[in-house]
Amino acid sequence: MHLIENQWYPLLESREIGRHPIGCERLGQQLVFWRTADGVPRVHYDRCPHLGASLSRGKVSEDRLVCPFHGFEFDADGQCRHIPANGCQGNIPKGMECASFHVCEAHGLVWFWLGRPRETYPPLPYFPELEGGWRYGTFTATWPVHYSRAIENQLDVAHLAFVHRTTIGAGGRSFVDGPHVEADTTGIKVWVTNSRDEGQAHSAEDALAAAASQKEPGLHFLFPGIWLLNISPRMKNFIAFVPMNERETRYYVRVYHRIKNPVLAKVYEWFVGLSNRLILDQDRRVVVTQTPLDSSQAKDDRFIGADRAIIQFRRLHAKLMEEGNGSG
Ligand code: FES
Ligand SMILES: [Fe+2]
Repeated sequence: MHLIENQWYPLLESREIGRHPIGCERLGQQLVFWRTADGVPRVHYDRCPHLGASLSRGKVSEDRLVCPFHGFEFDADGQCRHIPANGCQGNIPKGMECASFHVCEAHGLVWFWLGRPRETYPPLPYFPELEGGWRYGTFTATWPVHYSRAIENQLDVAHLAFVHRTTIGAGGRSFVDGPHVEADTTGIKVWVTNSRDEGQAHSAEDALAAAASQKEPGLHFLFPGIWLLNISPRMKNFIAFVPMNERETRYYVRVYHRIKNPVLAKVYEWFVGLSNRLILDQDRRVVVTQTPLDSSQAKDDRFIGADRAIIQFRRLHAKLMEEGNGSG
């Protein structure tokens, strides 16, 4: 799969991985995830080097991943340690190993380093806005779309009055003032005002920039694929866009809040989660119709001023593809 390299990708939520192996398609590969006895997440290709069976159908026994077909045992680094048919004194042929990958765990997510192994790794991309005292509830969804279209949909500030006219876009606020966009190869910040069209003029860029300097961005995106919607100082929506393959993207959608009471928190997460599902379903209906699937191939798209954040995403995505994939 065509992806920006030398980046940390969130692949799964921590709670999805237990001692029992699970198989998932991520970044165009079938992968198997499991945990060692001390709780460290491990990731390998979900393919036994013997005759290609799926290791995720096996089990974990004493810190080894055991293939369900002929019982070969692999350690946390993917090295084969035991071949039952050869006996405990038997040899292990060269190359009998499953590739294992560098992962880390933070913010309730398991992150995968896509790139060559290195001595030290860059810090994980995460939002400073979410530091300290936040709680969250998560729901997931799988869309039949390329990740580029999924991300652009959440940077699109001109669709609300149409796609979401019965929900967050009610009131016919089709006029887009801005967006003011600040972007670099780490991410994109977006400030925008949507209002009814009453013949007003657009604000000048310096006025938008001055207003933006006074407040947090409404939308904040970090490469390669996490997004934050600042609803209020106490409420934020988060999405991790996880590429599964060229045609499917997994969404991890979180409602972040500061409600301490666990019952109230659950009720809040359930209610906001439900409305987020409804809103995202409205997006889904149009995003699945976009062609071509991968926006980097969409050379014929014609932009308007309101598309500034999308334009920046395409520009920086192309730049990172070139840089990240060239530097090894
Ligand atoms: S295919 Fe896995 S042990 Fe034979
Ligand atoms: Fe939307």
